[in-house]
Amino acid sequence: MRGAAALFVEHARQAVLTRGRFSVALAGGNTPRRAYALLAGEPFRSRVDWSRVHIFWSDERCVPPDDARSNCHMTRTALLDHVPIPSANIYRIRGEIRPAAAAKDYEAALAHYFGTEPVRFDLVILGLGTNGHTASLFPGTPVLNERTRRAAEVYVAELDMWRVTLTVPVINAAAVVAFLVSGADKADALRDVLFGPRDPERMPAQLIQPAAIEISWLVDRAAASRLPVPTETASPIDSNHADAPRDTE
Ligand code: 6PG
Repeated sequence: MRGAAALFVEHARQAVLTRGRFSVALAGGNTPRRAYALLAGEPFRSRVDWSRVHIFWSDERCVPPDDARSNCHMTRTALLDHVPIPSANIYRIRGEIRPAAAAKDYEAALAHYFGTEPVRFDLVILGLGTNGHTASLFPGTPVLNERTRRAAEVYVAELDMWRVTLTVPVINAAAVVAFLVSGADKADALRDVLFGPRDPERMPAQLIQPAAIEISWLVDRAAASRLPVPTETASPIDSNHADAPRDTE
């Protein structure tokens, strides 16, 4: 996860230098937790001007903010409660209200931040589900085809849970997208997304095909174990430099 923390620091530095602020949409789930905890400590913490960082999420579960399943709760515990970021710079998806209202509220937050400019995050961090989903773009859900709204509510039947997610156009408009993928249980999905037949209904992460952006895949050896390429070329999550293969334990 050191590679992920280093990537965050580098893109934050560049964005603040060039535009005076850094907008990032964070992934939820478990994988990024370690990267967020690293960012909350040295040497990464003091390399970020937290007053210029604006935190969004790629998606959120429709649960209260203090619920252990909340992505905001996970991020606060691992990172936000430990860095000097102004609370006004944190744009929480309000999981405690009706999903449609939470999506609208989040779209209003996006409009407030980006104003008349296009919604173009400096960095979007994503995870990958074992079924090929990313953010809350789950296989077979209507949100996969949403091209107008910037955020949308989605009912995930397999989890019996409502979620709010950034839509495909917003993610693909980002300057940089970084996938963090860890664990042998992701190996088949990672192979299918990257090297399988194009089938975004079944493997929604394939929809993240940004035209003009950089995609970084930060994967550990276990997740890369089924790729049809030598694993030493995969970017280990734990390395400071993408080309320095290291175990991620
Ligand atoms: C979420 C995430 C989701 C996640 C993947 C991988 O809210 O759960 O946004 O897309 O990134 O499900 O989750 P893990 O990192 O827990 O394996």
